[in-house]
Amino acid sequence: MPRIPTALVRKAHAIDAFLPALLAPCRDMHAAQNELRWLREHVDKVAKARRARGDVLAKGALLQKLVKQRASGKPLQYLLGTEYFGNLVIGCRPGVLIPRADTAASITHLVGLLRNAQSIPPELRILDLCTGTGCIPLLVQHELYSARKDVDLRVLGVDISSKALKLSNDNLQRLRKGRNYVDRGKVQFIKADVLIDPFTDQMEGSMSLKAALNYKSQPPFWDILISNPPYISPSAYWKTTARSVRGFEPKLALVPPPTAKKNDTEQGDMFYPRLLEIARDVEAKVVLLEVADVEQALRVAQHARHLGIFDGVEIWREQPDASTEDAIEDDFAIVGNGNARSVLCWRGAGTLWLGKSATIPQEDDAQCLFRASECHFYGGAVRPGGSSHLDAQFDRKAFFGFPETPTLKR
Ligand SMILES: C[S@@+](CC[C@H](N)C(=O)[O-])C[C@H]1O[C@@H](n2cnc3c(N)ncnc32)[C@H](O)[C@@H]1O
Repeated sequence: MPRIPTALVRKAHAIDAFLPALLAPCRDMHAAQNELRWLREHVDKVAKARRARGDVLAKGALLQKLVKQRASGKPLQYLLGTEYFGNLVIGCRPGVLIPRADTAASITHLVGLLRNAQSIPPELRILDLCTGTGCIPLLVQHELYSARKDVDLRVLGVDISSKALKLSNDNLQRLRKGRNYVDRGKVQFIKADVLIDPFTDQMEGSMSLKAALNYKSQPPFWDILISNPPYISPSAYWKTTARSVRGFEPKLALVPPPTAKKNDTEQGDMFYPRLLEIARDVEAKVVLLEVADVEQALRVAQHARHLGIFDGVEIWREQPDASTEDAIEDDFAIVGNGNARSVLCWRGAGTLWLGKSATIPQEDDAQCLFRASECHFYGGAVRPGGSSHLDAQFDRKAFFGFPETPTLKR
């Protein structure tokens, strides 16, 4: 990392004695001044809250401590306790990954498509695996409810980390207080291990997704599956992530666990086969998976195509709503501007919800878990009709023990 010129350090000191320490993490004067302003505002807020409790805070000492921590590389979001995620302010805490703007851009774009959908089910069921702060369920809810009065959401966020689970629930409670729309449907967070085979393994210790879903009496069918899983390979972790990320953000959130017989790339990709299997088993009609780059995007897209259950697969860049860099690679459309950031798959009714057409001819009918012709339509939604391959695994009465019409209220 290039050293900060002495003249710049002197200039910073002349403006404010706290500024020079912030030049190193911020790299330029303008960013350092902004961060100092935000830290001061944060200290004022903390002092005000303490005063309200009859407590006195030494503001100078707190600011000095925060500046020192920031100078050591600690992310600003952990110091301020918040980060913007789309139009939402999400609570952040050490031990849980800070939500990224790229993720928010993909989610906002997906919801933008759903906001205009004609045939969306009155109760839309969304599963967010590896939920972290809960930012994805909360942004989906915020964006969809502000535009659709006719849809109730059942959103379930799943994470293996207790710290993530606590924070996602805190975020849910905090945002619920400040809502300006009627609270409809249900957002819930549960702890489970996504990597344990949800339909066969029952391991000691961690709870599998299937066990967790049963326990919480959630429906077996989910319309949309979203995931931003750990996807960085061990070598990329050392080569491509910033020191502040390695030093302060949880490795559990970034790098999949080591597994015997998997090479570096396979370890980085480890979550995707499992996530696509879950998508198949819960009969998701839209799947959005975040990826690291175009190489990983193409591997995930190929895997999705070979699964033989999707009507279409495409790759989204960091700004999927822009269109100047649209391209095609390996027959997959790559849409938007910037680096490849996610893979979108759709099938059945999901094709209509997204305003897409089927782009992948189905190779093997036997592999398809359901097709439009095998489904009953009700309430504008396509649902598998009659019995399901999941019937033996799930207690249908428990899962469907809630109204199918949008009457859920909290
Ligand atoms: C890249 S972070 C994404 C967090 C959040 N969705 C976001 O976009 O900011 C991945 C998350 O996966 C969780 N995770 C890691 N291994 C998991 C597993 N086996 N099962 C469930 N969650 C897991 C981590 O705790 C972390 O919160």
